[in-house]
Amino acid sequence: MVARILAIANLKGGVGKSTSVLMMADRLAILGYKILVLDLDPQANISYMMLGRRSIEKYAAEAKTLTQYLNDAFIHGQEGVLGSYIIREASDLEEQRKPGAGRVDLFAATPRLRFVELAAEERFAQEKGSLQAAERGFEVKLREIARHFTEYDVVMFDCPPGFTSLCRAALRVADCVISPTVPDYISILGLRDFASFGLRMARDGVDRPLKHGALLTKVEARREDMRGEIEALKADRRFRLFTTQVRQSRDAVRASERIRPDVMRNFNEKYGGLKDSVRKLGDETAAFLNLGSDKNSAD
Ligand SMILES: Nc1ncnc2c1ncn2[C@@H]1O[C@H](COP(=O)(O)OP(=O)(O)OP(=O)(O)O)[C@@H](O)[C@H]1O
Ligand SMILES: [Mg+2]
Repeated sequence: MVARILAIANLKGGVGKSTSVLMMADRLAILGYKILVLDLDPQANISYMMLGRRSIEKYAAEAKTLTQYLNDAFIHGQEGVLGSYIIREASDLEEQRKPGAGRVDLFAATPRLRFVELAAEERFAQEKGSLQAAERGFEVKLREIARHFTEYDVVMFDCPPGFTSLCRAALRVADCVISPTVPDYISILGLRDFASFGLRMARDGVDRPLKHGALLTKVEARREDMRGEIEALKADRRFRLFTTQVRQSRDAVRASERIRPDVMRNFNEKYGGLKDSVRKLGDETAAFLNLGSDKNSAD
């Protein structure tokens, strides 16, 4: 089986990319899909959200991170077995431990990722004489990772804001990209730039089509300006606007805080008042990715 490769990306920062990765991965795994999340952001937000700070430190010490893998592959030129860097069953959802459920595995980042990325950029530039060489090197590596495992239904890249080399590489490898966006004036400007020249530049020379979706996050129903922006977005043909909207809620923040490594939560506890939106988001993502009907009939 070949996994769908999905990048969650936007030029703009702080628009809910990592939180959306958390929600989508959690719901898709409950539906029975096996998900591999790659944290491409040195802020390591999705890694912290899934595992908590203590666990990240422990895994970093055990060399079980994407940072370590890229360091071994690009700086030392001697990488270990790919699977040994990946953290299995990273989510704290009880439902994912039930028979027939899928799971979320994580290729975690640490803040040191940016330094490894810079060191690789420098090395590639020296060896190949081109500033773009690192991006191409990362592209080959990310594709290799996505194709290496046959067990995953979806490989998800949590991209950093802006266009770092790793982010550009992920956008070249992806089949689909979903851009979370807050429906306010400045965020929409960022989305439009991303949808027009950003993606086109990143995909220069890639001849596979890319499916682009946009997801509204942190929506505040009472804000008139947001309602206006949403209407304009519906008419934009460059991307498919998800019908699911995730509203501004403290429950999103609560869901993204891992309680403790040994404490599990059920879906309703984790997502509270956002549980219906997260369900809908996962279901709509499955349809967007053409994953077919539910793997199992989990509700
Ligand atoms: N629906 C929501 N309601 C309230 N707060 C939210 C919601 N979604 C995300 N947040 C909060 O907004 C902040 C940014 O979210 P998140 O980290 O997911 O965005 P991001 O786009 O991944 O950011 P970055 O560009 O830095 O990677 C976080 O503090 C997060 O908890
Ligand atoms: Mg993020």
